[in-house]
Amino acid sequence: MGNFLAGKVIAVTGAGRGIGRAVALAAAREGARVVVNDYGVATDGTAPSSEVAEAVVKEIEAAGGEAVAVADDISTMAGGQRVVDTAVGAYGRLDGVVCVAGILRERMLFNMTEEEWDPVIATHLKGTFTVFRAAAAVMRRQRSGTLIGFTSGNHQGSVSQANYSAAKGGIISLVRSAALGLHKYGVTANAVAPVARTRMSANVPMELAGMGSAEDVAALVVYLLSDRAAEEGITGQVYSVAGAKIAVWAQPCELRSAYASGGWTPETIAEFLPRAVGVDPMPMLSRLSEMEEAARSGARPNAR
Ligand SMILES: NC(=O)c1ccc[n+]([C@@H]2O[C@H](COP(=O)([O-])OP(=O)(O)OC[C@H]3O[C@@H](n4cnc5c(N)ncnc54)[C@H](O)[C@@H]3O)[C@@H](O)[C@H]2O)c1
Repeated sequence: MGNFLAGKVIAVTGAGRGIGRAVALAAAREGARVVVNDYGVATDGTAPSSEVAEAVVKEIEAAGGEAVAVADDISTMAGGQRVVDTAVGAYGRLDGVVCVAGILRERMLFNMTEEEWDPVIATHLKGTFTVFRAAAAVMRRQRSGTLIGFTSGNHQGSVSQANYSAAKGGIISLVRSAALGLHKYGVTANAVAPVARTRMSANVPMELAGMGSAEDVAALVVYLLSDRAAEEGITGQVYSVAGAKIAVWAQPCELRSAYASGGWTPETIAEFLPRAVGVDPMPMLSRLSEMEEAARSGARPNAR
């Protein structure tokens, strides 16, 4: 075992499979005691099972680490609270939460139903809120702690997953709000946008070259949870990790502005906006045909 997280207590949601499991195992290897949360559902969020979280606890224990399972649904307030209460009850404190749990319900916007929209927003966005909210109350008292949300490059937009994209964009704003609201209590908040071979990404057309492993993502998360990252003052950031690449995303900002002395009218806006303010070209719009071709040719990464 390493000691990057020695003495820390870390809770990870969606820790039964894929990236969450790799984060839980890595955190334990680095000396943390871990709360392993997983509702044990299929990729679309159905058919829960408590065995998935328990299996990862057994793996951690077999490797000489300490962990406890919570099989609750983190899209409920009670589920998020239970994750945090379990950490405090079992280990007496909570130093980090990593909200990895997620599901997919893919559909074009014009066909998307309420049953496809609501659970995706509830699992990703509300599921990050429920855990952040309960953890923030503990960390504020402790005057230390780290919140990590999981977003996606798809927060820029998605052809057939408007629900997922909207949730992932919301998580970035939630993370930035947490970074601002908890700064004076010594609590940091950051977001990670991963690319890794898992059962979820097996259904997403993607260039194989850009695929990394869940272990690459776990290494970044371990660093962000560590005192080394806190000492650097890292908060309010969004980091991509895809195999060998780590990148930081820009903070949102206004690009160009124009002012009207006598107030705007549609006519003066039509005159000035295209030339003086203009547009900021949407990178994904120019990649639409390339993405459609990848989807058609079935360029899908292998699941793991
Ligand atoms: N794999 C990628 O390339 C990729 C890319 C971008 C973003 N992400 C994000 O990373 C995270 C992990 O993805 P993954 O690829 O490891 O997926 P995965 O499907 O392998 O694992 C997700 C886990 O979350 C659990 N889960 C789902 N709903 C839950 C709930 N309500 N409560 C508790 N647990 C729940 C599932 O049971 C599952 O074990 C997700 O938030 C996903 O959106 C992944």
